[in-house]
Amino acid sequence: MAGIYPDEVIEEIRNANDIVQVVSEYVKLTPKGSNQWGICPFHNEKTPSFSVSQTKQIYYCFGCGKGGNVLHFLMEIERLGFADALKRLADKANILLPEGTDEKDIKKEKQKKELVRLNTETARFFHKNITEGTNTGMDFFLKRGLTPELIRRFGLGYAVDDWDKLDKHLLSLGFTREIILLSGLVKKNKNGGYYDVFRNRVMFPIFDAKGDTIAFGGRVLDDSVPKYLNSPENIVFSKSRNLYGLNIAKKSGKKELVIVEGYMDVISLHQFGITNAVASLGTSLTELQGRLLKRYSDEVIIAYDADTAGQSATLRGMEILDSMKCQVRILRVPSSKDPDEFIRERGRQEFVNLIKNAKKLTDYKISLLYKDADLESTDGKIDFLNKAADVLAKVDNLVEREMFIKKICKEQYLNNEALRGEIDKRIQASGKQGRTYKPAVADKGLGKSTSAQNRGSNSQMTGLIKAERILIAAICIENELFSKVKGTIDQEDFSDFIAKEAAQFVFKKAAGGNEFAPADLLSGLEEEARMAFAKVFEIDCDFEKVDKACDDCINVIERNKCEIREREIIEMLDGKKPADKDFDVLKDEYLLLIKKNKKGGN
Ligand code: UTP
Ligand code: MN
Repeated sequence: MAGIYPDEVIEEIRNANDIVQVVSEYVKLTPKGSNQWGICPFHNEKTPSFSVSQTKQIYYCFGCGKGGNVLHFLMEIERLGFADALKRLADKANILLPEGTDEKDIKKEKQKKELVRLNTETARFFHKNITEGTNTGMDFFLKRGLTPELIRRFGLGYAVDDWDKLDKHLLSLGFTREIILLSGLVKKNKNGGYYDVFRNRVMFPIFDAKGDTIAFGGRVLDDSVPKYLNSPENIVFSKSRNLYGLNIAKKSGKKELVIVEGYMDVISLHQFGITNAVASLGTSLTELQGRLLKRYSDEVIIAYDADTAGQSATLRGMEILDSMKCQVRILRVPSSKDPDEFIRERGRQEFVNLIKNAKKLTDYKISLLYKDADLESTDGKIDFLNKAADVLAKVDNLVEREMFIKKICKEQYLNNEALRGEIDKRIQASGKQGRTYKPAVADKGLGKSTSAQNRGSNSQMTGLIKAERILIAAICIENELFSKVKGTIDQEDFSDFIAKEAAQFVFKKAAGGNEFAPADLLSGLEEEARMAFAKVFEIDCDFEKVDKACDDCINVIERNKCEIREREIIEMLDGKKPADKDFDVLKDEYLLLIKKNKKGGN
C-alpha cells in the first residue's frame, strides 16, 4: 500500500486497533445482528446504513459504498495520508514505528501527547485545590447547587490566588519550559519571569470526544470581567472543533444531543439526569461542531439562552445544522433563563417537557415572525405574510409546507392560493423545483447512487464475477480453503479485474504460508477493489458453511474455464483434418473437458 513500512508492521498496528473502538470515536454504533450500525459519516443520511464488522475488522456503507479497514476509516474521516493514519493508530496502541517517518510530524505528535499529559496533571492540581486546599472553589460550586460527586465527575477545580503556583508545580513534575508555554496556562511577563494565567478562578477542564484533557475554562468567583478565560488555541485545542461535555454525552445512550451555551448549563443538566447535553465553548456553532453533533446524534436540540445574544446564536446555529442536513429542533427556555437556572428552579420534568415540545425549524421561524409581527395593521400583515412566504419557500417537504399555508391563511383570513402563489414565485426565482416537487426518496438504497454503488451491485454482477469475488473472500475468512484452489485455479483464471487484483494478494500471501484476514486483503487493494470487496464481505459472505460456498464458487469458475477451452478447441479443430498431427490430442482433451464439465456442473 504505502511502501514505507513492512507489511508485518502495518498488520501489527492494524490488529492492535479494534475497528469498532476506533469507529465509535466518530460514529455512534448500535449492535444489530452480527454487526454494529450507525449513521454513515461519509454521506448524508437519516437511517443507519453504515456497518462495522468486528469479526472481519472492516466497515462498509450500504448507502454510499465506502468501505475498508480501520486504516482506511481513519484516512477518510480525518483526511489523513496513509503514513499519518498509521502513525495515529500506532500511537493509540503504543507501538513504536520504525524510523523513516517525517521528523517534524514525530515531534508534533510527541508535543501533543505531552501537552495532553500536562493538561491532565493541571486538572489534577486544580481539582486537588478543591478537595484538599482552601474552601473557596468548593464553596462556589456548592453554592451553585453542585454535588461533590458532580464536581468529581467533571473534574472541576480551583486555581488559587497566586502568581506562580501552577508554574512551579508543572516544573516540579519535569515539564519543559517550552511545553508549559505552549499550553498557554503560563505566560512570560515583561521582566522575563513567568506567571499563571488562571488565578482565583474556578476551573472547568475541557475534554475532547475521546476524553483527553485539551484545555481549561476558568470563571471568576464574582461579577468581575472577563467572566471566563479559556486556554488559548494550540496544537491540541481548537474551540471550533470541540464541544464541551461530548465525551460524557456521547455515552448517554440517547438519540439526540442538546446543545447549550455554557459549562454550567451542561453540568446542571447532567445533575438532573439530562446527560446528553454539550456546550459550544462560547462561540457560535461552527460547521465543524455541527459535524461532531451529527456524528454522535440523530437529532440536535438547540437550547441556547433566552437573551438576544442566545437567540441570534440559535438562528445561526440552526441555519448551519440545517444546511448540513442535520435534524434540528429549537428549545425555548421561558422567562429569560438559561437551562441551568431553569432546571434548578423548575426541575427535571419541566425541562424534559421543553425538549419534547422543542419546535422544528420551520415552526420556530414562523413563530418568531408571529412574535415580531404587527398583525393589527394591513401593512404589518402584508409584511408578515411576505416573510412567511420567504420561510416556506425554503421548505422542501410539500406536506409540511401545505400545513403551514393552511394554518397561517386560516388565522389571517386569507385565501390559501394567494400565499401559495407567493411561495411559488420565490421558488421559481431561486430556480428550485416548484409545486411539482416530489418528496425526497429515502436515503437508503434509492437515489443518491454513487458510481461505487453501481459498479459492484449484485444485479449487474454476473454469476462468474460474483463467484470469483466470493471465492477470494472465503479464502480470506478461512485461509485453509486455499488448498482447494491450489493447482486448479490460478491468478490468470480470474476474469474480473477486481478479483484478479485481489487474487494476486491472496496467492502471494498463501504461497508464503502467511495468515491473512479480510482486513488484510483490503489493505492490499486500490480504492475501487477495496470498496468492492468491503461489499462482498458484508453482503455476500454470510455463509452457513464456508467450505461449501467455496466449492460452489470453484465449480462456477472451473466450468467457465472449461467452456473457454472448449470454444478454443472447437476453433482449432475447425479446418483440421483427422490426419493432422495434433487432431487426436485436441479431440481427447475436448472429450475430457466435456466429461469433467458434466461432473462439475449439473
Ligand atoms: P454564560 O455567561 O452564559 O456563562 O456564557 P454560564 O456558563 O452560564 O456561567 P454562569 O451560569 O454565569 O456561571 C456561556 C459560555 O460562554 C463562554 C463560556 O464557555 C460560557 O460557559 N464564555 C462566556 C466565555 O468564553 N467567555 C466569557 O467571558 C463569557
Ligand atoms: Mn448561566
